Amino acid sequence: MNATDTKTLVRDWYGTVATGDAKCCGPNTAQEASSSMGYSEAELVSLPEGADLGLGCGNPQALAAMRSGEVVVDLGSGAGIDCFLAARQVGPGGRVIGVDMTQEMLAKARAKAERVGATNVEFRLGEIEHLPIADNTADVVISNCVINLVPDKAQVYREAFRVLKPGGRIAIADVVNTAPLPPELSADATLLCTCLAGAAPTRQVEDWLAAAGLTDIRIAIKPGSRELVASWAPGRGIEDYVASATIEGRKPDGVPSSRAEGSSRKHYLGGRRSRRVRRSAKARISPAENTMQIVAPKPPRTAVSTTSPASRPSKLALTAMTPPTSKAHAPALIASCRRFSAFVFIVFRPLEITTPPAPGLGAN
Ligand SMILES: C[S@@+](CC[C@H](N)C(=O)[O-])C[C@H]1O[C@@H](n2cnc3c(N)ncnc32)[C@H](O)[C@@H]1O
Repeated sequence: MNATDTKTLVRDWYGTVATGDAKCCGPNTAQEASSSMGYSEAELVSLPEGADLGLGCGNPQALAAMRSGEVVVDLGSGAGIDCFLAARQVGPGGRVIGVDMTQEMLAKARAKAERVGATNVEFRLGEIEHLPIADNTADVVISNCVINLVPDKAQVYREAFRVLKPGGRIAIADVVNTAPLPPELSADATLLCTCLAGAAPTRQVEDWLAAAGLTDIRIAIKPGSRELVASWAPGRGIEDYVASATIEGRKPDGVPSSRAEGSSRKHYLGGRRSRRVRRSAKARISPAENTMQIVAPKPPRTAVSTTSPASRPSKLALTAMTPPTSKAHAPALIASCRRFSAFVFIVFRPLEITTPPAPGLGAN
């Protein structure tokens, strides 16, 4: 199935889920499902009725530890569960923007926001691969069980990086692939729509995050993940291949988003740094917790010059980016000044000699 067909399939699926014409995922009620994902009773009762459709695989707004006044972006906000909870955490001085590509989900979320008079939440129609949000907007990007549904996941992480403010963070709940899926499971369209067949391997997700420019990457399999995943497709054995995970990362301080944009001639170091992370990151795998923690180093102040925008990272030429006033630029600056002085001397000196004096000035 090509990317367009996949997106149409997913949009149609969640359109029918939003209107109540189909149920997703497994036999549990929405509230039972959300409790098993880590939402507290207090959180669930605080929600506008119908905002919780039981569609997540974790509790990203709890993971994000939001502060009053922060700006939050929710990728694939559905009926708004995490947006409404985030709105309470950031308070009236903060702002929450939910983005979803399914009209029916958006209509549902907007109706709930209006009903409860939420003034610091808005829901925008859009694809999370092309966020309808300006650069450097968010303190936090959250998402709950959505990125696995997207064909181009690397693009989603690049977009998350772009809209984050420098120093901002991602706190994502999503499924990851723990072993290659057998063909009968990977080709099952229902398993794709129910957030199972589209999961990417943990290592791949880590590479995408690093390539997007994020640091302090941490991917951890959720305790109790097997039971949760098994409940979405009982009897299929999918829990042997897919797990629910939390995904965290940070945009380094002082990195403007324009360096991460694909159209730019200077790209923030991507694939190359990804290899650096692989070499130097400390990966700790704890069998007891079934978690992997990757502590990536702070990225160097380095940019990549491309000969063609479509170049692969491995073919890119690296140039060190130093501040314009640094010592490294001094010799070039002095040489330019000397060349300019010589030019002025050669061009204007003869003019000064041959130009006749202005009337009234040369008489003496
Ligand atoms: C599994 S539901 C999760 C909804 C919500 N995060 C929650 O926890 O209730 C997936 C949602 O992601 C949306 N979605 C899927 N792919 C998307 C994309 N490429 N861009 C925007 N939204 C997308 C769907 O419309 C759907 O509302």
